[in-house]
Amino acid sequence: MRKPVFAANWKMHYGPQETRAFLLKFLAAYAPRDDRTVIFFPPAPSLAVAGFALRDRPDVLLGVQNVHWEDKGAFTGETSALMARDCGATVALVGHSERRQLFGETDEMTARKCAAVVRAGLTPLLCVGERLDEHERGITQSIVMRQLKTGVSRLEKSQLATMLVAYEPVWAIGTGKTAKPEDATLVHSAIRRYFREALGGQPDSLRILYGGSVNADNAAELVAAPEIDGLLVGGASLEVDTWTRIVGT
Ligand code: PGA
Repeated sequence: MRKPVFAANWKMHYGPQETRAFLLKFLAAYAPRDDRTVIFFPPAPSLAVAGFALRDRPDVLLGVQNVHWEDKGAFTGETSALMARDCGATVALVGHSERRQLFGETDEMTARKCAAVVRAGLTPLLCVGERLDEHERGITQSIVMRQLKTGVSRLEKSQLATMLVAYEPVWAIGTGKTAKPEDATLVHSAIRRYFREALGGQPDSLRILYGGSVNADNAAELVAAPEIDGLLVGGASLEVDTWTRIVGT
């Protein structure tokens, strides 16, 4: 049985003060449960405050939205996985479609970032997903597999077994359009097959999240699909009551 993951990707929302207020409200409303994993991905300047707010709640994890592939150096404006860890983060998003589309992140960069994340002792959550034109051309699986294979290419087998993956069709992100659970299931199955082969048939505990216009009304149906092991939520994670409902799904 794979424990579902409910991950809030706040993108460029909520500085330290709003982060602290949100988390205190959320923690008061959400009693610890050991049948699910909750992760918050606030913006980098809010990580330290979030780490402090979550210090007594090991059931709620903290993640960073993006890291550089080097551990330190002359990279103005960048954040390292080690710095995120210092703030209390244990997870890092890698290759979110906004990083790929808006900031020119390539598959090879995601591979280097995954390696940096693992080197720092964090868990990578690698995001993959096809654009609308790729979806319409019927090449979803080949795009996703290319992103996946390159993204994990610098990791050891043992490191693959503990990472997280999110399938987020680009056309579903922030658009109000959600993939049908059965369509997402096909992609999730292909991802799982790849990991099963890469890991040589080891027991499969890999958790594959779905993301893209998840909200309080569609969360239950999506997370109930056999291959969907959790949700990566943007817009609907920004309002504490809505997010608390989703996490309680
Ligand atoms: P959305 O974003 O839920 O607002 O569609 C999801 C994501 O980008 O991770």
